[in-house]
Amino acid sequence: MRQLIAGNWKMHGLTAEAESIVGPLRHAGVLERDLLVCPPATQIAATVRMLAGSGVGVGGQDCHAATHGAHTGDISAPMLRDAGAQYVILGHSERRQDHGETDPQIRAKTQAAQAAGLRPIVCVGETDAERQVDRAFAVVGAQLLGSLPDSFTGGAFDGIVAYEPIWAIGTGRTATEADVAAMHLFIRSELTRRFGAAGQATLILYGGSVRPTNAAALLAVPHVGGALVGGASLKAEDFLAIARAK
Ligand code: PGA
Repeated sequence: MRQLIAGNWKMHGLTAEAESIVGPLRHAGVLERDLLVCPPATQIAATVRMLAGSGVGVGGQDCHAATHGAHTGDISAPMLRDAGAQYVILGHSERRQDHGETDPQIRAKTQAAQAAGLRPIVCVGETDAERQVDRAFAVVGAQLLGSLPDSFTGGAFDGIVAYEPIWAIGTGRTATEADVAAMHLFIRSELTRRFGAAGQATLILYGGSVRPTNAAALLAVPHVGGALVGGASLKAEDFLAIARAK
């Protein structure tokens, strides 16, 4: 299965910056990994236009669980789809922290994304304090159970999971390869137990300070299906170096 390198721009990306990131991606040539960029909502439609025909995917960073309604400032999954997005990141730890998002809310958003034809990328990950007291597996297990839907209109969950230890996000610290291997194996076994063959095929991304210098090692860990990249996705050169890392 091809690995996916997903760029999470977070709250970065005025028009000129978006163009400078996306321009080189259009001419990246043949890659062994798939590329996805998740710009802020204001840049989605323009990014979709710039990347038309390139094979690079575009995604949102959040969506509301409802299709429409009186929710000032929110964006629904059908709106993202309408703007040309194919994916949406859900339950990122920054949204869990900044907006108090809970597992049931993330589950509802995941269902809404799937119903709108978007592939959800559902984020899970423990804090440093939780890892120190050996609760990393319990926390991630509970997040998986709570935020992934059992099914959606008859089919199994067909999204992507991103494991992002919170202490590794934007800090320059990454999990060791052994820790990543153990957690990805745990997530794979949870997904397989719940979803059978579909769980065996689910992409499980690693996120948290992925850089051109550590990408090859992290992407070689068993059950790592790609990377969710924050800071290093804001420079096309670094993002492409991660996509090409060997
Ligand atoms: P980072 O962010 O690569 O800057 O650590 C990753 C993320 O939050 O998705």
